[in-house]
Amino acid sequence: MKRKLLALTLATALFQPLHADEGMWLPALISQRIADMQDKGCRLSAEDIYSVNQASLKDAVVLFGSGCTGELISDEGLLVTNHHCGYGQIQRHSSVEHDYLKDGFWAMRRNEELPNPGLTVSFLERMDDVTAAVLNGVLPGMSEAQRDSVVKVRSAELTHQATAEGKGLTARVEPLFYGNQYFLYVYRVFRDVRLVGAPPSSIGKFGGDTDNWMWPRHTGDFSLFRIYADKDNNPADYSEDNVPYRPKRSFRISRKGVQEGDFTFVYGCPGSTREYVTSDEVRYIGEVSDPQKIALRTLRLNVQKKYMSQDQAVRIQYSSKNASVANAWKKWQGEARGIAKMNTVAEKQAYEQRFRQWARGTRYEGLVEKLGDLYARRNPYYLAYEYYMETVRTIELLQLTAAVQSKLSDKKAKDAQVEAFFKDYYQPIDEEIFAAVMEAFDQHLPESFKPAWFKEKLAAYGSVATWRDDLFARSLFTDKEKVLNLTEEDLDRVENDPAWEMYNAFLQWYAEELRPVISETTRAITLAYRDYMQGQMDFEPGKAFYPDANLTLRVAYGHVRGYAPADGVYYRPVSTLKGIIEKDNPDIFDYNIPQTLRDIYAAGGHDSQPVCFLATNHTSGGNSGSPVINADGDLVGINFDRVWEGTMSDIVYDPEICRNISLDIRYLLFNIEHIGHASYLFDEMKFAD
Ligand code: ARG
Ligand code: ASP
Repeated sequence: MKRKLLALTLATALFQPLHADEGMWLPALISQRIADMQDKGCRLSAEDIYSVNQASLKDAVVLFGSGCTGELISDEGLLVTNHHCGYGQIQRHSSVEHDYLKDGFWAMRRNEELPNPGLTVSFLERMDDVTAAVLNGVLPGMSEAQRDSVVKVRSAELTHQATAEGKGLTARVEPLFYGNQYFLYVYRVFRDVRLVGAPPSSIGKFGGDTDNWMWPRHTGDFSLFRIYADKDNNPADYSEDNVPYRPKRSFRISRKGVQEGDFTFVYGCPGSTREYVTSDEVRYIGEVSDPQKIALRTLRLNVQKKYMSQDQAVRIQYSSKNASVANAWKKWQGEARGIAKMNTVAEKQAYEQRFRQWARGTRYEGLVEKLGDLYARRNPYYLAYEYYMETVRTIELLQLTAAVQSKLSDKKAKDAQVEAFFKDYYQPIDEEIFAAVMEAFDQHLPESFKPAWFKEKLAAYGSVATWRDDLFARSLFTDKEKVLNLTEEDLDRVENDPAWEMYNAFLQWYAEELRPVISETTRAITLAYRDYMQGQMDFEPGKAFYPDANLTLRVAYGHVRGYAPADGVYYRPVSTLKGIIEKDNPDIFDYNIPQTLRDIYAAGGHDSQPVCFLATNHTSGGNSGSPVINADGDLVGINFDRVWEGTMSDIVYDPEICRNISLDIRYLLFNIEHIGHASYLFDEMKFAD
């Protein structure tokens, strides 16, 4: 026993990731990390976290929709995720009479819960390493195309077998480490998921975009749903006869709270990271792509902000659009700054130098150079593509022409889209953005990358502004009634419209001049990474590698911890209701809290009510809504964000700065009780303390 322990400790000491607390680990292989987790304070076993033989914590975690995480908090299918993850559903149920976004929503009994057609939650049944099975039939000397077709056929066989095992199953084979490993993921997908509760946005989105990606944070970013199943507990389409799903496992809630230094882990579905790319790719991201996209978005945000601050109706129209433009804009700023601050390009170059020396005479020789050549060929095309996406494709009127053109034969669908478009459209914003982004397109793209059509048009008009004025004056798409009146017979009118012409000319340019090179080089790059990834693993056999995120279930573990964002400043890791009251300001939309919250606070006794906390768990987009779990496996928080100074963690993780932001579970309970007056929900929850 002793010897085994020693061997284990040795093994974990050897197989460390580069930076403490870095890593998004595969649940099925968590036995390889459990000793390290236990060293850091965890009191669970690997089987508690992931097991196919017994109920384990994995059975209480779901992929919520197709980009967030959620977790079960009762044995009657009650699920919690973020407010920003349920936002679309809450919005869809909202109207002027029932504005659930503004006022919140609380079902007071089961039959008041609101169905959400199209929304699914997926439980991971199991994940298996199927590398050998997938590559069975791949022979030495085969071409990549031949290898691909073997992989495809084998994967199809595996998923076919797996889905035949039960009701509501879907399966996917996912490449990990760029195709050095393959895992089969089998999910059970539930399709009847109902809205149970959501706080008003002034709590659920408190701080808005001002506080987004920031600490100190005071957002009550949660919403509650319930999963329904047929009478046999199987997935089913919505039906009144469905009953609450009885999960194999749900989380107990801990009301003890967290303190700096406490062990926590996050169990969820991070979407996409690129930790193993070369210095060339990091340089492109940090020095070219991010700064240019930030500059282009700043132009749009300035225009939006100007008009939104002048008119309440415009502010509402553009709040969601503005939020999504601002979200990535702010993230990229933190990412570019973090990459520069960590000196990642130079660090990677030094690493590549050592790698190249080691690789001499092996099959890995020349790989870094090859990747460098491929990037050199791809990047100008890719940048032009990114420009296209952040300029031409952001002009709303052009997007409308494309939607109408493709739906012309389906009048109902077309008209619904047209109505939705004009509900949130303010033409002066679009016109001003047109001028700003097309000006930038002209100024910053190299001549050889501009479409000939664009250059001719611009020369003919003399300026972007003149072109813009003419296009908006002549296009029929600025007139809602005219667009509604269009029928199948009007294809010519659509395709002769100056807005459609512009949309289409750029699309052709992208399809003919950019896409072929981008596809070809991207394919070659991914292929080269398969070898480079394996090379990195052979080069550092003592290092523990975790696969890049791909929206599959991962475990990230670390500690509750503050950070120093700048010299002389230290941020403590816990925020409280007192901070909400300090920020409260009825004149600032993002900080205008509900009167009830003011009253509750004024009545006293809630000064130290915890709201959010920070930890070192390595998370990414998609981890929103993930359970944050304590050393005993109990729920202490709900993950919803990271601090912007640490958003380079998708590329490179800095244990000093990278922090995930979570809602303290006790603030969820506070809201259920005091804001929603829905304490009946406590009856079905299980409390650890
Ligand atoms: N930054 C978080 C994430 O990437 C939250 C975004 C939603 N909130 C907002 N104010 N836009 O998803
Ligand atoms: N806010 C992100 C999400 O929605 C989480 C993150 O990027 O840290 O998934």
